[in-house]
Amino acid sequence: MPTYLVTGSNAGIGYHVALQLARTGATVVMGSRSAEKVDAAMASIRSVVPDARLRHLQLDLADLDSVKAAAHELDSLDAVVCNGGVMIDDTELMYATNHLGHFALVGWLMPLLAGGRVVTTGSLRGKKVKDGDDYARSKQDQMLFGFELARRQSAVTSIVNHPGGALDTIRFPVSLLLQDKEAGAWPAVQAVLDPSLRSGQMVGPRVFGLRGEPRVEPVRGQLADVTLAAQVWDRSVELTGVEPA
Ligand SMILES: NC(=O)c1ccc[n+]([C@@H]2O[C@H](COP(=O)([O-])OP(=O)(O)OC[C@H]3O[C@@H](n4cnc5c(N)ncnc54)[C@H](OP(=O)(O)O)[C@@H]3O)[C@@H](O)[C@H]2O)c1
Repeated sequence: MPTYLVTGSNAGIGYHVALQLARTGATVVMGSRSAEKVDAAMASIRSVVPDARLRHLQLDLADLDSVKAAAHELDSLDAVVCNGGVMIDDTELMYATNHLGHFALVGWLMPLLAGGRVVTTGSLRGKKVKDGDDYARSKQDQMLFGFELARRQSAVTSIVNHPGGALDTIRFPVSLLLQDKEAGAWPAVQAVLDPSLRSGQMVGPRVFGLRGEPRVEPVRGQLADVTLAAQVWDRSVELTGVEPA
């Protein structure tokens, strides 16, 4: 059975990605910086999927030493879901967590990932970044990385996904526009499992890109800017010292 790594899977969308992948019988490696939180998440998944194959991987995305150590803990991997993320005022920490940590993680995992998948997680806001929106910038750079990886690296299938608008709990009438995090996990799960997806494609919710069943979305505007993507790649190599090749 395959092995999938999901970062930031002790809570939120990542938790549901781990749960939905565990249902397939795969081994799910749960990347988390908190053993306590991931223990609780594993117990919760096992209450629904009693024979779930789960493992904790200590991983702090904002700490490159932790990311490197985590990557070297693994000896086989079929897909990595780069899900963990924050939306905070500390721009540097947010960029390190949302983008650079994942860039380096994928770089260090590349020898294991040949023939496998890299699933990056963006955001609707990252499709067209407004000046001063540092969260959107971090998510856009993660998406541009996913598209650039597809152009540079044929050994892996690189799929970009975004969850639309997903809340921990949701009620009518908000549910007309947004969805819960169980549904927010669907695009990432499809990105891991759907054999018809091709490298460089993007998956997001069907209804206004905010909620509903996942579908393949067009890649255009800033996300299709190959010069910008190459700049993000080069700067990420410079900042992390890692090249996902
Ligand atoms: N929810 C939405 O509507 C939405 C929309 C667009 C994009 N997204 C993206 O979807 C992803 C998941 O969002 P969410 O709403 O599920 O967020 P969430 O509920 O806040 O969960 C975030 C997860 O990331 C983990 N994380 C944060 N910093 C980390 C670090 N330094 N190292 C390792 N793990 C870390 C958290 O772990 P801790 O418990 O240790 O903090 C948690 O498990 C994020 O990338 C987010 O940007 C979400």
